[in-house]
Amino acid sequence: MPQRSKEGTFIVIATIITAIGSLLFGYDTGVISGAILFIKVQFSLSPAEEGFVVSAVLIGALVGAITGGPFTDRLGRKKVIIYSGVLFIIGALVPAIAVNVPMLVSGRIIAGLGVGTASFASPLYIAEVSPPKARGKLVSVSQLLITIGIVVSYLTDFVLAPSANWRAMFALAVIPGFALALGMFFMPESPRWLVAKTRINEAINVLKEIRDSGVDKEVEQIEKELAEEKKSWKELFSPVVKTALIIGVLLAIFQQVTGINTVIYYAPTILQLAGFSSASVSILGTVGIGIVNVIMTVIALSLIDKLGRRPLLIASLSGMTVTLFLLGYFFLIGSKSLSTVALLSLIGYVAFFAIGLGPVFWLLISEIFPLSVRGIASSFAAFVNWTANFVVALTFPDLIINIGKTYTFWVYGIVSIIAIIFIIRYVPETKGLSLEQIQALLAKKFRSDS
Ligand code: GLC
Repeated sequence: MPQRSKEGTFIVIATIITAIGSLLFGYDTGVISGAILFIKVQFSLSPAEEGFVVSAVLIGALVGAITGGPFTDRLGRKKVIIYSGVLFIIGALVPAIAVNVPMLVSGRIIAGLGVGTASFASPLYIAEVSPPKARGKLVSVSQLLITIGIVVSYLTDFVLAPSANWRAMFALAVIPGFALALGMFFMPESPRWLVAKTRINEAINVLKEIRDSGVDKEVEQIEKELAEEKKSWKELFSPVVKTALIIGVLLAIFQQVTGINTVIYYAPTILQLAGFSSASVSILGTVGIGIVNVIMTVIALSLIDKLGRRPLLIASLSGMTVTLFLLGYFFLIGSKSLSTVALLSLIGYVAFFAIGLGPVFWLLISEIFPLSVRGIASSFAAFVNWTANFVVALTFPDLIINIGKTYTFWVYGIVSIIAIIFIIRYVPETKGLSLEQIQALLAKKFRSDS
């Protein structure tokens, strides 16, 4: 049997440990879908309160995403990931023992801080410790783990639904939260961050631990890269960066305002609206939706570098548009077989999301920004993504009541059409290009557009 190299062993362990952060991202955002059915009854929530309980985690996440950048720069990547593990633990325990809505919401906001921080810091750490040739694949692993975390949360909800034990649904996140904090404690600090803090000797020691060879050359490269970087907010507004930023921000908005998380967070509720009467059956249908999400993400990862980003995005949004309009139409005519048809439309919709818009957004924001501003710019795009996510989750129950199910899904369908037009017109194909070539492409695009 071939022996795994020191480098290979380290990166597998580092990916597994930081992946727990992505798993918790998925778990903590997905777990509410089943829990809300019981919380709603126990605390007699109004639609507005229900929207708030569901989206509290997102308030924490958007704060975590925007503050994540500066904290990871000042305190180091390792410490921040350990803190996110602690936030996940507190955020699991407080809702589990909540005696009223404010306590429940506060606990979920704390969990959200963990989610937002991990969504940003885990991939950052992996990107910085992995050997360059494996970086892309390893970034994508975290997206896959998000979808797996969602399925695990659905399965937990399904198992606990018969006993209506929503408190345990939240409490279970303590285990991976603890594993993340403890595991990260034994991981080395990112050598890239150490060099940035001029702790060169420590960086060399870490690299000696995690690399098979080429330590001196790597330190030299990191120093050179850092010398070229000017991490200032002003850089964010140079014409080319502005073009990239507009693309990143609009894709962040489109990824959310086409409604994916109304399904991820409210699928059991939507299925009940469509006629599935028992909570357990609705949650089981939701598990199916989550599994399709995972499978299609795996397929997407194998296609992203072959077919390219643009075809996947366009196919994805076209399919989402059709399934959203179908879903709205079935609610309009209210046929007898509505529940099955609604479940099939939801499955189709999620499958189309996962094949393109889901993974491609996170990938593009890691590749369209120049190195000098990649950290703050992608953290800003992530922040916009969480903010849009929050607005959609908060307004969904109200929209269902005020404009009805049909028009709610049609609104998301119309946004999907606008997104297709935007992508065809503005989003560059980055398949097979080096990051420098992507910058040149964006500069050319900017000149021809202005
Ligand atoms: C993407 C989205 C996230 C969503 C998930 C569903 O990661 O950013 O909001 O919950 O896909 O798979």
